[in-house]
Amino acid sequence: MTSLKNSHRWLGLLLISIAFSCAAADTNSPREHLSLDANWKFHLGDDWPGALRLDKAGASGGPAAEKFNDNSWRTLDLPHDWAIELPFDKNADGSHGFKAVGPGFPRNSVGWYRRTFELPAADAGKRIWLTFDGAFRDTTVWVNGWLVTRHESGYYPFRADITDVAHFGGRNVITVKVDANKFEGWFYEGAGIYRHVWLDKTAPVAIAPDGIFVYSKFKDNVPGVDANIVIETRLINSQTNYAKVSVGYEIYGPNGEKVRVEPFHQGPPISLPDEDVMSSERDFKRLLWIRSPELWSPESPKLYKLVTTVEVDGNVVDQKETEFGIRTFAFDPTNGFLLNGKHYELYGTCNHQDMAGVGAALPDALQSFRVAKLKEFGCNAIRTSHNPPTPELLDACDHLGMIIMDESRLLGSDQENLQKWDDQIRRDRNHACVGIWSIANEEFSVEDSPQGAAVARTMQDYVKRLDPTRPVTYAAPEGDTFAGINGVIDVRGWNYHIGAGMDSYHAKHPDQPEVGTEQASTVGTRGIYANDPARGYVSSYDNDHVPSWGNSAEAWWGFFAPRPWLSGGFVWTGFDYRGEPTPYSWPCINSHFGIMDTCGFPKDNFYYYQSWWTTNTVLHLLPHWNWAGKEGQEIRVDALSNCKQVELFLNGTSQGKQAMKPNSKLTWQVKYAPGTLSAKGFDDAGKVIAETKVETTGEPAAVQLTPNRTTINADGEDVSVITVSVADAQGRTVPTAGNKINFAIEGAGKILGVGNGDPSCHEPDTFIAQPTVKSIPVNDWRWKLADVPSKGSLVPEYAPDFDDSSWNTIKPKTDGDSGDMFLTEGQTAIYRAHVKLSEDDLNNPAVQVRFGGIDDHGWIFVNNQRVGESTDWASQPAFDIKKALHVGDNVIAVGVFNESGTGGLNPDVDVELFGKPVPADWSRSVFNGLAQIMVQSTKDAGEIKLTATADGVSAATTTIESQPSTPRPSVP
Ligand code: GAL
Repeated sequence: MTSLKNSHRWLGLLLISIAFSCAAADTNSPREHLSLDANWKFHLGDDWPGALRLDKAGASGGPAAEKFNDNSWRTLDLPHDWAIELPFDKNADGSHGFKAVGPGFPRNSVGWYRRTFELPAADAGKRIWLTFDGAFRDTTVWVNGWLVTRHESGYYPFRADITDVAHFGGRNVITVKVDANKFEGWFYEGAGIYRHVWLDKTAPVAIAPDGIFVYSKFKDNVPGVDANIVIETRLINSQTNYAKVSVGYEIYGPNGEKVRVEPFHQGPPISLPDEDVMSSERDFKRLLWIRSPELWSPESPKLYKLVTTVEVDGNVVDQKETEFGIRTFAFDPTNGFLLNGKHYELYGTCNHQDMAGVGAALPDALQSFRVAKLKEFGCNAIRTSHNPPTPELLDACDHLGMIIMDESRLLGSDQENLQKWDDQIRRDRNHACVGIWSIANEEFSVEDSPQGAAVARTMQDYVKRLDPTRPVTYAAPEGDTFAGINGVIDVRGWNYHIGAGMDSYHAKHPDQPEVGTEQASTVGTRGIYANDPARGYVSSYDNDHVPSWGNSAEAWWGFFAPRPWLSGGFVWTGFDYRGEPTPYSWPCINSHFGIMDTCGFPKDNFYYYQSWWTTNTVLHLLPHWNWAGKEGQEIRVDALSNCKQVELFLNGTSQGKQAMKPNSKLTWQVKYAPGTLSAKGFDDAGKVIAETKVETTGEPAAVQLTPNRTTINADGEDVSVITVSVADAQGRTVPTAGNKINFAIEGAGKILGVGNGDPSCHEPDTFIAQPTVKSIPVNDWRWKLADVPSKGSLVPEYAPDFDDSSWNTIKPKTDGDSGDMFLTEGQTAIYRAHVKLSEDDLNNPAVQVRFGGIDDHGWIFVNNQRVGESTDWASQPAFDIKKALHVGDNVIAVGVFNESGTGGLNPDVDVELFGKPVPADWSRSVFNGLAQIMVQSTKDAGEIKLTATADGVSAATTTIESQPSTPRPSVP
């Protein structure tokens, strides 16, 4: 993105003056920030392996060519992850979740996306930027046939200035090839354009992409009466002429009212020295102060808004809003993490970015859903392991209050890695939530070496240049080791290794702050209380199974809690994710590490953390109490609670009262009898402050649907997450139920995905409406050498009634092979064939003709009407011919010019009839009583009705109101 060095691409001179405008923010800025998510065409499979051509500009073929016909491709909206749509396959990579994608699955590992958009003629003179927030992975982008960018990594944003190749006053085509043949991580990574795409329009003089950095400073990094606000702005001038620019700033407070800002120092307009004449990227800095700022914290996430306005000769040329928070973060070697100058324990979780139902492609509403779920058990920090996050996760954390450890994908100080690091920091540094940068995770091969240390230092120094407000860490999977990266990093990160080594390290390096970058890796399956390797389930009792490198929740937290210098830590993980099915393998396809499952349903440990990470009164019992067949046998019962004492009862009989030690849990052995297991929690004074019970339920009797939100916005993006449960006749969720549920939806919404948190479930998370395509082969081609007008005008031989009985014949080719090509260099020929179509055939919504190949240049006619032209010998061109057809006999004629080598028409030709797509039949089994279905709004307001049915139990219906709302600005 922004070059590390001064780019000489931008010509022009900026003469800058700074103002603290008191005028109301001007809304006439030419800047437009438009979503490009809707209405993409998608094709899975690399049917055009030679499409990318590097010899000549605009020479790329297949879908990269402007005129390529993508009629038969599927239409979809972004974000999109095609890996979630693929079947599970036991030969696929287990750490990636056994989806049939990546190494060994080339057929499923390349996806093509195409989209058209209009640019009004009035946009001529503006700069047009295309930004991808992230695509997995190895992405090639063409605009109007021009190659505009290639980007390998699956996690970083990338951007192209497409102004030069855009058609102003016309139609533009974006083609994107995404190649997921290779992995980057060792966990589910998805495939496709799984984050947002944007089209930005700016004036030639504008704020650079990610060109604003606003942050607060306080004396000694402790908030006081006055917040110093530092604003760094980067402008670009893409004109060749001189621009006299002024920049104004306004700040709005958390209540939306304009804040009185005082210039810290207001200098005269800045004139640039002569040597900057060629360099039109210009950074400058301004200082202001705000009296009595309202501070941001996870508990009170107050946000300010900076409005930056750029004027040239008194006209507004750009205006941009930037949200920011006023707060201080620090890591202290003795007192651990400090928020706004005070010790603040990090109750963190590491998380990957996928979720049930949607894979890696989360609409923004699901980012907020997940952040809110984490907060329920007291989590106040997320480590974006092991990659830069999607920006909308950071937005959700800014607004809902969650601290972020913002991690890079890879350690490296090579130019490419530093460029990505630069992009990540510039993009994320305004976010109030970002508390610390992490340069990498577990770089086993290099972490102890002098080179590892040097590279880490370079990445860390890089942060200091771009962001003086935050420290840097490294997630180190080692004990008392100072060699290499640990010796140079600001904050020593601890992945696992609790115990004496931590204390001895701290004693030896008392001046280095520390943090638990990754801890626990406790495994457990929701609602399961015995290890079951055959089915791939792990017991949810906290310490029934712990991987060799990990610890139970109680063990790690019990160690960290009394050591404030450790700053708290990050549990591996908040949510289960696809892949890494430790301790099992196939048929297990997702991880068991989560405090919640892939849907966000709590496992029992949720209540352990809630007990010790929140101030709520918590009392939770496990296991469930449906153990028919185990009557009289002892069953372990745990109470997860922060009450001072807990008394357990079975069917009203006390099983004993026990005192709770801090950061621990209580256990009883209870002889099973069906009925009610209940508990009372007491405070210090012996008063009952909490009660809970677990009951033996009856058989499944009814489905229940419980939406997390009954009103959503009709913006085409918002989502309601609906819990599906199977209950007994008394409405109690049956904890062992596995009923298959079928779903039907009516009204202003669509189903986005389904899940159930079962780590061994191979049912699909998504169902796709299938187009019905019928192919009619076009055989018996005749041909003869003949003149072919190069402009594609008519000749008598194209006419339906032309007598071609004396022409040469060619055998049909049905094997996809290009067949015999009879034309030699420079020859031209005409080809003809007949196809009979019925009225039913023509009633299909779309009809096209697809050619196996036309080598090199072809003009295509149907019943004497020209339907298209093909210039790419390597593609299989297809043309929409519905308008030219009639019932009965139709004649397809093709004029061909063979430019070089042998050539001609490949007679493997089909007429393809596209029927109405068959709607998808959505279903999902509940797992231990629960499943999840996500419903997304359309842009039409109205009621959404979801019905769930299952054999032998009563059905459920829920209604969600999709309320009128303004969709975000988007490209039509
Ligand atoms: C860690 C690693 C994570 C995950 C975890 C599983 O060592 O950083 O990515 O693999 O182990 O326990």
